[in-house]
Formats: sequence, C-alpha cells, structure tokens
Amino acid sequence: MKLPNYVEARKRTKDKVEIEHYSNDIKDLGIGKTYHIKTYGCQMNEHDSENIKAMLEELGFTYNDDYQTSDLVLLNTCSIRENAHNKAFGMLGRLKHLKEENHNLIVGLCGCMAQEEGVINEILTKYKWINFVFGTHNLYRLPYILKEALDKNEREIEVFSREGNIVEGIPVKRDSKYKAYVNIIYGCDKFCTYCIVPFTRGKQRSRLKEDIVREVEELVKDGYKEVTLLGQNVNAYGKDLSLGYGMEELLEEVSKTGIPRIRFVTSHPWDFTDGMIDVIAKYKNIMPAIHLPVQSGSSRILKLMGRRYTKEEYLTLFHKIKERIPNASISTDIIVGFPSETEEDFKETLDLVNECKFDNAFTFIYSPRENTAAARLKDEVTLAEKEERLHELNDLVNIYFKENNDKLVGTTVPVLVEGVSEKKGILFGYTDTNKLINFEGDSSVIGKIIDVKVTSAKTWSLDGEIDER
Ligand code: 5AD
Ligand code: SF4
Repeated sequence: MKLPNYVEARKRTKDKVEIEHYSNDIKDLGIGKTYHIKTYGCQMNEHDSENIKAMLEELGFTYNDDYQTSDLVLLNTCSIRENAHNKAFGMLGRLKHLKEENHNLIVGLCGCMAQEEGVINEILTKYKWINFVFGTHNLYRLPYILKEALDKNEREIEVFSREGNIVEGIPVKRDSKYKAYVNIIYGCDKFCTYCIVPFTRGKQRSRLKEDIVREVEELVKDGYKEVTLLGQNVNAYGKDLSLGYGMEELLEEVSKTGIPRIRFVTSHPWDFTDGMIDVIAKYKNIMPAIHLPVQSGSSRILKLMGRRYTKEEYLTLFHKIKERIPNASISTDIIVGFPSETEEDFKETLDLVNECKFDNAFTFIYSPRENTAAARLKDEVTLAEKEERLHELNDLVNIYFKENNDKLVGTTVPVLVEGVSEKKGILFGYTDTNKLINFEGDSSVIGKIIDVKVTSAKTWSLDGEIDER
C-alpha cells in the first residue's frame, strides 16, 4: 500500500524528469469480463480515461455502457470543487449497493481525488470494499495494480505523492475519430491559492517536442481533423526542459504537420507571450479560439488568488489579442465569492465582463480545497451572497454570448461536423471559433470540415444551413 502525503505533494524538486516507455506483460486478466468507466472533471481526465480504456482492453476487458451490469467499474475523479467530490462519493454509494448484491463486482477509484490525503483516509475507514485505488502519477501501472488486487483478493491502494517520470507510449482508445487530445505538459507550478491541481497533478513536466509532433503526425495519417493540446497551463510548455523552445515553437511545429485544426487549453495570462499571439495569427490551422481564465476583475482579489497579474494587465493582454486576431473568440473562467470578496470587488468583475464581452465563460462559486492557501483565509461571504453573485454574473455573461452569436448570423463559417445531435436529430459541429452549430444535412459530411451559413443565433448555440457555394 502506498498512500498520498500533502507535504510531499507540495514539494517541487529539481530532480530530472526522465522519459520511460510503457510496457505491460500482463495479458488475459480481463478476458470474458466487461468494464465501465465514469469520468469526472476536465479534458485531462477525459484523456486519461482514453488511456485507461485502452489498457483495460489490452487486458481483455470489453466496454459496457451500463455500469450496473459491468464486472469492473472505475471512477476517474476530479477534485477541483466540492460538487465534483460529492458526485463521486454519491456514485460510490450506488456502487456499494451493487456490490452487496454482486460480491464479484470489482470497483476502482483513480484520478485527482485519489491524490488527496483526506479522501484516502475516508476510503481506508469507510469504503473498505473498494478493490483498488491509483493516482494520477501512476496511471500507467493500472495492469499491475489490478492484478495485485485480484490475485491477493484484497484491496490495493497505490498512490504516489510525487510525480515521477513521463511515460510515453501508453495505449489510447480515443472517443472520437476526428478530434484528439494530445498532452503537452503535465502538472502545474503556479499554485494559485484556491487551486488543488498543483497538489494532485504534481510539478510541471513537458513532453519533448519530437514526441508531441510524432503523435500529431500519426493522427494526421489516421485522418484526424483536430487536435487539442492539453495542459493545466500550456503556455508554460517547455520551460522545464531548458531546451530553448516553448509554446510558440511548439505551436509552429504542430501547425506544420498539416493537421487541419489545432486548439490548446488552458492558457494562464501570465505566460501568454506576444510571440504566441503572432503564431496564432499567422497559421490558419491554429484556431482563433482562446481560453484565457481571468478568475476575477478585482486586482485586490487577484493578488489574494496569487494570479500574478492585475485587472489592467489582463485587459491589456485581452485587447492585444483582439487587435492582432480580430476574429478571435475569447472565453474565460470566473470565480465568485472568493474569501473577503466585497460587493465592490464583485462589481469590478462585472465591469470587466462588460468590457471584454466574452464569447463564453465558465463561472463558479469559490469552493475551499483541502490544504490550499486560500482555505486558510477567513471567508465571511455567505453562501446566499455567493449564489446571488453567481446568478447576476451568469445573467450578464449570457447577454454577451448571445450578442457575439448574433454577429455571426448571415456569415459563412467553417464547421467540423461531429455527428447527429441526439436531441435534435440533425447534424452538429463546431465552428473555428468553437461555437456549437446545428444544421440539416446528409450524414456523409460527418468528420469533414464544411462551410455552414449561420441562419440564427441562440445563447449557447447557432443554427445554420450547409453553404453549397
Ligand atoms: N473553487 C472554485 N473554482 C475553482 N477553480 C479552480 N479551483 C477552484 C476552487 N477551489 C476554477 C477556476 C479554474 C477552473 C478550471 O476551475 O476558475 O480556471
Ligand atoms: Fe490551478 Fe492556477 Fe495551475 Fe490553473 S494555473 S491549474 S488555476 S494553480
């Protein structure tokens, strides 16, 4: 048993990160058995689940869409806010009942929550029936951890507190045939005071440019149309490698692979260089859609959050991007109710939204996370106040989503067609600026990038018709 430890998780060492290659000599463990995986949280977790699926299938497991009839159920968890925690624990409650009926059911937990000392203590005392647990740093060891748990018929918990090497070559079973996630940097060293990620995902570690480019070249060969380069803070890419290249150079090289669409998430305003803006403006296959979390419009709160920029600095960057890439859509993340946030601070957030008129915004109520610096701050903002602020903020951001969408009506936009919408029974896809669009058409265009004329706009989506010209 290896358990996580917060003091260790916080440490940032100068230890050199080596590159290892995935290997697995365990086979047949899952023959005749089915698995189901529930994924919570961000794209990084979704992509980890694509690796987990492939590893399980290599062992012989087959996918089952229904967790209630699966032989193995794995929860890939998220720690970012309290409600993500609650969802996973709620699911564990349901699995406990299933396990009472079916003692052979194998239950596993992995992802960010597995890295939390508090969660593991709870599992040790209250969830003794869980078969296996592994963390974010040792995902590639899944076959061995699972074998250990099954062979010994006892619970196996293996969570490393500190990140290890980068492991290349982990198999992957991608959810889409057209869009792919590609990791470029793991971990985060920013330590924003509210954020648990630097603890659960470890120190910043970039993959080598050659490995990333090779993966994208393979995707091009396999007919993929879009890659999303993933990292907690992609702009810090390369800084830990001291090889003289960074995000700017990486974007340029990925662009030259000829993949039709490149996206990247998430950018921290702090490392967003002029060079990056130039590269995005220059290469047509780098999509003009930038996710640039601001978190708050009050410089006082930004300082308490440890964000390293003021409201004015954010606005300068924002306008610089808009000037050099006029069609860019900019989206953001905003937290309301950070400890000590006053009505005046919140008003500054509303003012910033009125100035930036974001194309999209993910808005959250601050949620204290175990062991983070902000969790120690006095928080006298009441939940009712926080909810009211969130409500007011959502009403405002929605106005601008609609306003930005309205501007597209009558124009023709490039759309990567993803499939038939379950709800509407018609085609859907995403524009270059990352807007969802629904339109009638033949299923032969699925997986292609086609021109669609926008006929009307809603708050969260567009409607259109194929432009045959
Ligand atoms: N409480 C609320 N929101 C948070 N986020 C990160 N940590 C917290 C927290 N403790 C939000 C930030 C980040 C997004 C991924 O989640 O806005 O950009
Ligand atoms: Fe969390 Fe800040 Fe790192 Fe983003 S940049 S993952 S908010 S610590």
